[in-house]
Amino acid sequence: MKAVKKIVEAFAPATVANVGCGFDILGFAINGIGDRVKIKVTEQKGALISKITGTDKLPYEIEKNTAGMSILSMMQEINADFGVEIEIIKGMALGSGMGSSAASSVAAVVALNGVLEYPLDKSELLKYALKGEEVASGAMHGDNVIPSLFGGFTLIYNTTKFEFLSLDYPEELTCLVIHPNIQINTSFARGLLDKEIKIADVISQTGSLGRLITGLVSKKSELIRGSINDYIAEPKRASLIPNYWEIKKYALESGALGVNISGSGPSIFCLFDGEDNVIKIAENIKNLWIKAEIESQYYISKINQTGATVVYSE
Ligand code: HSE
Repeated sequence: MKAVKKIVEAFAPATVANVGCGFDILGFAINGIGDRVKIKVTEQKGALISKITGTDKLPYEIEKNTAGMSILSMMQEINADFGVEIEIIKGMALGSGMGSSAASSVAAVVALNGVLEYPLDKSELLKYALKGEEVASGAMHGDNVIPSLFGGFTLIYNTTKFEFLSLDYPEELTCLVIHPNIQINTSFARGLLDKEIKIADVISQTGSLGRLITGLVSKKSELIRGSINDYIAEPKRASLIPNYWEIKKYALESGALGVNISGSGPSIFCLFDGEDNVIKIAENIKNLWIKAEIESQYYISKINQTGATVVYSE
């Protein structure tokens, strides 16, 4: 396929995966933070990463880089008759629990798609973005990639074919994500999980998930409250996050509908049914971490509805 644009830059939003009870299947996108990838078309075939800003920890080797791997797999399959230089502009820390690698992969395929004579549908881009996520986390899970690409609140109901539904949710739903400056590697955090789950935990987890989804789609925040529970990952991962249980208790007592680990951590997310007091709660959590000599940043956002977009082209 031919390129008809010279330069395209795309933005892909950060995401909250798992949402407590939906391990590997539930996620949503947030506003105000994400990654950008710029694609410059070259006559010489092949793909190379020319620049990475925002981190010095990502590899320039194309097969080891999430954005690079996504681009490579897509270029091969569409039989690109051009080459690309890739610039990755990281807007979030690596290993933050906000879908950093997914956002880079998604921004990369959306930017590449933007240069094409016959752009693909977003649904056709998914498999290439998932290739990148596999490089980063050692597993092909789509609960960051899918909401980052499509926006909204998404439920993957088939993890082999990555079939998913976009869920309705109450418009006033407000998310606080607070990120302590520590890094958790997703494959390490996945390695902490039990390979077999007790039936009692499966029952509790599926009950919570059913209640959460019912609360979201019927827009009843009283059903969302009390549903964001995790019997699989949170018990194994919470100890990686300083003051986790204290913060969770404080945010729930302050009115949060639910609090849990964002993705594989260390970020913590809290959902609220509006914006009242959210800044104050965020500042108090930040201060609690300052006492433990941990810096943090927070993001307050409604659910991002659009997902990844092209932000510049020429
Ligand atoms: N579902 C994945 C996990 C998300 O919890 O391992 C990682 O961002």
